[in-house]
Amino acid sequence: MANKLWEKNVQVNADIDRFTVGRDREMDLFLAPYDVLGSIAHITMLESIGLLTAEELNTLTAELRHIYQDIENGNFRIEDDVEDVHSQVELLLTRQLGDMGKKIHSGRSRNDQVLVDLKLYTRDQLKQVAQKTHKLFEELQVQSERNKHILMPGYTHLQVAMPSSFGLWFGAYAESLTDDMLFLQAAYRMANRNPLGSAAGYGSSFPLNRTMTTRLLGFEGLNHNVVYAQMGRGKTERNVAFALAGIAGTMAKMAYDACLYNSQNFGFVKLPDECTTGSSIMPHKKNPDVFELIRAKCNKLQALPNQILLIMNNLPCGYFRDLQIIKEVFIPAFGELYDCLDMATYIIERMKVNEHILEDERYNAMFSVEEVNRRVYAGTPFRDAYKQVGLDIEAGRFTPDKNIRHTHEGSIGNLCNAEIAQHMDAILREFHFEQTQEAVDHLLGK
Ligand code: ARG
Repeated sequence: MANKLWEKNVQVNADIDRFTVGRDREMDLFLAPYDVLGSIAHITMLESIGLLTAEELNTLTAELRHIYQDIENGNFRIEDDVEDVHSQVELLLTRQLGDMGKKIHSGRSRNDQVLVDLKLYTRDQLKQVAQKTHKLFEELQVQSERNKHILMPGYTHLQVAMPSSFGLWFGAYAESLTDDMLFLQAAYRMANRNPLGSAAGYGSSFPLNRTMTTRLLGFEGLNHNVVYAQMGRGKTERNVAFALAGIAGTMAKMAYDACLYNSQNFGFVKLPDECTTGSSIMPHKKNPDVFELIRAKCNKLQALPNQILLIMNNLPCGYFRDLQIIKEVFIPAFGELYDCLDMATYIIERMKVNEHILEDERYNAMFSVEEVNRRVYAGTPFRDAYKQVGLDIEAGRFTPDKNIRHTHEGSIGNLCNAEIAQHMDAILREFHFEQTQEAVDHLLGK
């Protein structure tokens, strides 16, 4: 006997059941704690509008907190004949409390339930993304400061171009993460709006107090229009995917640089031994597999917005079962991003740089513009100085002065790492993670 919230007299074919439930039992486990939180907020509101008695609310809340504890302790599962997490929670309540458990679904649909679950889940994940991204940011800044006097060639077209430094190289990726963080915050703030009460996507004739559930769940505000609230399914995940792709994009580029700089032909950086892997045939090998995998995984993560986009492409407004499939690509993305962020942070922290790169004469030409500028200071017009130095180089008469002075903002001698850190801190403060935590603690009676 199947346990379906909607089953009436006809039993569903087992193959159809397998096909329609798909991977939901697996994916919904990630949503379970949030489903319970959404239900506690919903019933608290139902009591306030007279659809539950105070006593029923107390009993139901206690039982829901109990289920939450079970989830936290790993003692929650979605049974084989139960469709999804929403059905499982309602089933547990009804088993425990009888008819009272059946009352909690008034004024609600699984459509706004899964929406609110996903938003609460996303909020928590994005907090972790922000924290881990900040950690990588800090490690990059440490390395930038530590190596700010060590010069390296800067390239354009992969041709030796101008003097750069490890201060600039590490610091550039740190600053890149500030823009990624801002994007993440936009996705966070869009996710942090309450869809609950939109029910199947068109609201309810019960006088639901949506302002109350917004406050109870610690949302920044609500998705007011119920039709728009339902449109948040898929749109939220897509926005977040774009934000994750930003961070992944920064890491993928950094990983490629690191692989290149670690090659013997460059020899600019040395990766920690434990981060390299050997070859089964060539005894000398120390391969940068960690960065190669970061690069590939981060490139894969950059495909996520497209995957989501195509799944929901051209759907008109209103709920469709198509949206269920987004969970399968969206939810696993977080774990993959965390792995990459953790690994990148570990390896950046331990990376050693070569302090003697410029002793190799092949890099001499990168000081050409320094010499041109010196002549400009001495009164020669830029184009003439450019030509003189160019001819000197062609004639083999150029000896570089490697004592360079770059002073403007963001240059080798003035990295502005403190300003970049301040910018990052200002963005981080604007998430207001503390507000959501307080609300959740309150719902759980902590
Ligand atoms: N598993 C479904 C999903 O993720 C839950 C919502 C079901 N709603 C429905 N109308 N069939 O979308």
